[in-house]
Amino acid sequence: MKKEESLKRMKVGVGMAILFMLGMSVSLSSAETDHHATHKAEPNLPKVPLMNRMALDLPPAAQEGLKLTMREHLEAIDAIVSALAREDFSKAATLAIVELGFAKHHVAMQREQSATFPPAYHELAMAHHQAAEALGAVIPTKDLKQILPHLEQTIHACVKCHQAFRL
Ligand code: HEC
Repeated sequence: MKKEESLKRMKVGVGMAILFMLGMSVSLSSAETDHHATHKAEPNLPKVPLMNRMALDLPPAAQEGLKLTMREHLEAIDAIVSALAREDFSKAATLAIVELGFAKHHVAMQREQSATFPPAYHELAMAHHQAAEALGAVIPTKDLKQILPHLEQTIHACVKCHQAFRL
């Protein structure tokens, strides 16, 4: 009798535990779906400014010139990060100044065949060259705590322009 009763209690206990665990997993998965739902409902932040980007009205040759410069910019960032990772600070500094600094602006202008740009575009371009020059100036300290914030600002200057303008 006693044995049967304790078996019964155990069964109830196990049953309760299973119910509890089921309940937990249901509430967990519903929390997850809720999360996904709210995530989907949220405006996709990076896409909002991208949709409102201003189109640059450039002739085809100037567009090709701009895209070439841009691909070189990405290669320069890549080369700067790998030089820093190798602790080749002088290479990294030279790349920042030569490939992304004000010198590069003249190369870019030649490729864009004196097409006209909105003043805001020009300002963003100058801010990006300025950030790269500041990065180049700080790299010789070999102090990553100083270098990384400037690298971040240099990359951020790329993103800011991409969020505002398109071809
Ligand atoms: C002053 C504005 C500006 C700055 C600064 C800028 N870009 Fe761009 N970039 C553009 C525009 C405009 C396009 C064309 C984008 C489009 O039409 O969607 C572009 C396109 C690109 C492309 C695509 C090229 C292709 O072949 O289609 C790459 C890669 C790129 N940029 C990299 C960079 C990197 C890396 C930096 C920073 C080191 C940078 N850009 C800074 C304006 C800028």
